[in-house]
Amino acid sequence: MSQAVSLVSPMTGAEAASPIEQDILQLIERSSNKRQLEAILEGIQSEAQLVQFLHRFLLFNDALAARVPLLAGLIHLSPGLFLDRSEPVAFCAMRNARIAAYVAEAAADEYHVSPRNLVHQHLAQEFLRGVMDYFGLKAAHYDTEQRLTPRVSELLTEARTRFFAERTLDDVMAALGFHTGLEFFAHEEFNVVDAYLRTRYPELVRQLEGTKKVEVNRYLWMSLHTIVEHRHYEAGMVALREALAFYAGPRTENEARELIVSGFKVFSDLQRRFYQHILDA
Ligand SMILES: [Fe+2]
Ligand SMILES: [Fe+2]
Repeated sequence: MSQAVSLVSPMTGAEAASPIEQDILQLIERSSNKRQLEAILEGIQSEAQLVQFLHRFLLFNDALAARVPLLAGLIHLSPGLFLDRSEPVAFCAMRNARIAAYVAEAAADEYHVSPRNLVHQHLAQEFLRGVMDYFGLKAAHYDTEQRLTPRVSELLTEARTRFFAERTLDDVMAALGFHTGLEFFAHEEFNVVDAYLRTRYPELVRQLEGTKKVEVNRYLWMSLHTIVEHRHYEAGMVALREALAFYAGPRTENEARELIVSGFKVFSDLQRRFYQHILDA
């Protein structure tokens, strides 16, 4: 990509410090996913549509979360991909686990089970139960009413599997770009959806936040993600910088950077397509 000047992070306000960060910030600047999401929310006409939106939004994020530990594992399982060439001892030159750790940081949040169950899937389940209670939806009919269209199912499969079919070294680099994309856009989308619910459905939010019968408040899944994704994205950016600094794979430095950029673009495009179909009947 062409070099950009004075691109600043929308999260921190800091200037892009490295070429890969400039590439990513340039893609963020050009992306219209946030506006697309805001328009979808503005267009929601009924409680049934809101429930459908939340249901699919939740499934999309669960699918994306599931890939995070797999990517960390794949990076660690690629011993020759990231090496510090100034280090004379082969084992001591390996940087794969350290780069995996910046991805695993997000996975650790996802699977936070001790001292109490804050596993994000569990939080999402409580959120869903709270939404069902609020709108008086019967569990017996819920899955039939929320049946997915084939297109939405396909997009969820893509969210789980993209770059993981063959798991080549190139795929690992692209998956790293995809990962940083999903963390950035998750930060953006959770904040947009949270703000929308607080403005348009304040009673729903109050009821979810006030739930006493479960160990966590049922809005925690939403509120937590307005905060943690920022950190996951920042850790992802460190992973990208280190992945390029220690890259020892078969590509040139520029090609490696392009692989990351292409993965980031794939995520942005996948999210755009998912939103496009999220309210399909
Ligand atoms: Fe999560
Ligand atoms: Fe995350």
